[in-house]
Amino acid sequence: MLLANINYGQLLYDFVCGYYPQSITRKLIAANHYQQANIRRPVFSIGILFTRFTIIKVLLIPIVSAFIFVLTKLHNSRLLFKEIIAMTEQSSSTNVVWHNATVTRERRQTQNGHKSVILWFTGLSGAGKSSLAHAIEEQLHQLGCRTYVLDGDNVRHGLCGDLGFSVEDRVENIRRIGEVAKLMLESGVIAMTAFISPFRSEREAARKLVPHGEFIEIYCRADLEVCESRDVKGLYRRARAGEISDFTGISSPYEEPTKPELMVDTGARPIEECVEQVLGLLRDRGIIHTS
Ligand code: ADX
Repeated sequence: MLLANINYGQLLYDFVCGYYPQSITRKLIAANHYQQANIRRPVFSIGILFTRFTIIKVLLIPIVSAFIFVLTKLHNSRLLFKEIIAMTEQSSSTNVVWHNATVTRERRQTQNGHKSVILWFTGLSGAGKSSLAHAIEEQLHQLGCRTYVLDGDNVRHGLCGDLGFSVEDRVENIRRIGEVAKLMLESGVIAMTAFISPFRSEREAARKLVPHGEFIEIYCRADLEVCESRDVKGLYRRARAGEISDFTGISSPYEEPTKPELMVDTGARPIEECVEQVLGLLRDRGIIHTS
């Protein structure tokens, strides 16, 4: 019988690859039905569909392109959707009404015995911003003033723990700190912020959040060489070794203030002298009245 002893595995393979089903044709040849030369001529297969039929060839490119197009669109609309959600979340504070406190900033200031203000310390990492801010706080506290220091490293453990050191993240970091400092100003305290805050535009944005004269920019000036030689946290060494990217002064810019209310030479002068400079300014401006 012709179909007896057919290797069906071979038959399937021949079908997929487009060969004459050899297991059959060998028997046909043996029966003198076909010539040997015909054995490997394709009959029908999935492969032949693509190689033989022009209609598929013609449609293949548009079909694949359309498929890729739809995938891209779906991906984009997912991103767009995400963006819309984010925007909605940002603007979801539309139906809120400001509640005026009866305990006002003025009343808090009277109770405290001094005015509130924002002292915005800026400068390179290692310039001494935090040390200076805390030393001033110590003096003010002893004078009975209400104070708080927002420190870059500390805040990045919590409120800004989700932010890195890319330009975008630093911008967001300073935006948040500007808002927090503004709340502190309302609470009647002397708020000190010790952040590199490397960009002028962001420092200006923070300044504009509060009334004129209540944001005091203090530039803690120290040359990069001085900061690098101090390298208290070992970060400059690691930045130079390429282990830390976007490091201010090395691989990320610092824009010096052009018109700070005060410049203290923390790179060269003793910290006590710098503290006195700041306290003198607070007295001159009538923020504190103690001598
Ligand atoms: S800012 O640029 O966004 O204002 P911030 O003051 O909060 O910076 O944080 C600076 C502190 O983070 C530095 O004092 C340093 O200890 C640490 N730090 C870690 N990585 C970096 C970096 N790439 N650039 C600068 N400071 C860094």
